[in-house]
Amino acid sequence: MTICPTIESLREEIKRWRNNQETVAFVPTMGNLHAGHLSLVELAQQKAQRVVVSIYVNPLQFSPDEDFASYPRTLEDDLNKLQAMDVDIVFTPTNEMIYPNGELHSSFVEVPALTHIVEGEFRPDFFRGVATVVLKLFNMVQPDISVFGEKDFQQLLIIKQIVKDFNLPIEIIGAEIKREVNGLAMSSRNNYLSESESHQSRFLSETLRQFRAQIESGINIIEAENEAGEALQKLGFVVDYITLRKAENLGKIINLSDCKGNEVVILAAAKLGKIRLIDNIKFTL
Ligand code: PAJ
Repeated sequence: MTICPTIESLREEIKRWRNNQETVAFVPTMGNLHAGHLSLVELAQQKAQRVVVSIYVNPLQFSPDEDFASYPRTLEDDLNKLQAMDVDIVFTPTNEMIYPNGELHSSFVEVPALTHIVEGEFRPDFFRGVATVVLKLFNMVQPDISVFGEKDFQQLLIIKQIVKDFNLPIEIIGAEIKREVNGLAMSSRNNYLSESESHQSRFLSETLRQFRAQIESGINIIEAENEAGEALQKLGFVVDYITLRKAENLGKIINLSDCKGNEVVILAAAKLGKIRLIDNIKFTL
């Protein structure tokens, strides 16, 4: 495994592979790697001859009131995990390399139709930060394939849209959500849950499953949304949203009968104490 701390060293190494006509898959991360991240790496290894993983906590996707400073940084542990999986390159750029003029003086990428809805309503700057850094990383790595988790469903849609809109020759692959034994979607922030919050956390995925069952039994959408939100609140969550949307573009669904045979997704974000959890469940109506 080669660690590339600079863009130049990354490009040099990848150029050698390209000269041998080897295919490259890329997995961007912010580190503090868990089994969810590692499942993306495994998928990448199945899809291409070479795999690049980046570890970079991107300041542009954190708002001032979010946890950029305290975001878990566990580089040594992460490198050990990636080494054990025999990853080819780990790219570990610094802020100065990614944003030489400071992150607020960079050009931005925005996907207007998807940036300000659902998760974007609660995190107005988040997707601009994600889209900008991912496009930059794509240009640095120039992969054939890139793997993203369905856990961050809206992020995955935004990345697919950027690839389409900017004609990037990259295949985007979505990977299934990896969950803890109790059903909680794995996340770097889960370690900060207290013991009792950790116990409560399973109700988020349980509520998503109940919501799905209700939708499948034909209940009114608004009623199901309200019920699910209230149920979470009673269980101690502070709910930002729990909503049924079209999986294709996160458009609102007025009538279930209009979506028969189509993929839909229930997306949720809720806080337990200080920790904000997100999750989703995708299914065909
Ligand atoms: P991060 O939260 O580190 O996640 C890196 C990748 O792992 C993302 O594609 C995310 O969807 C995926 N992932 C996280 N938890 C997962 C789980 N439980 N199951 C499956 N996949 C999971 O997402 C980001 O970083 C950043 O926004 C990034 C894309 C790197 C841009 O900065």
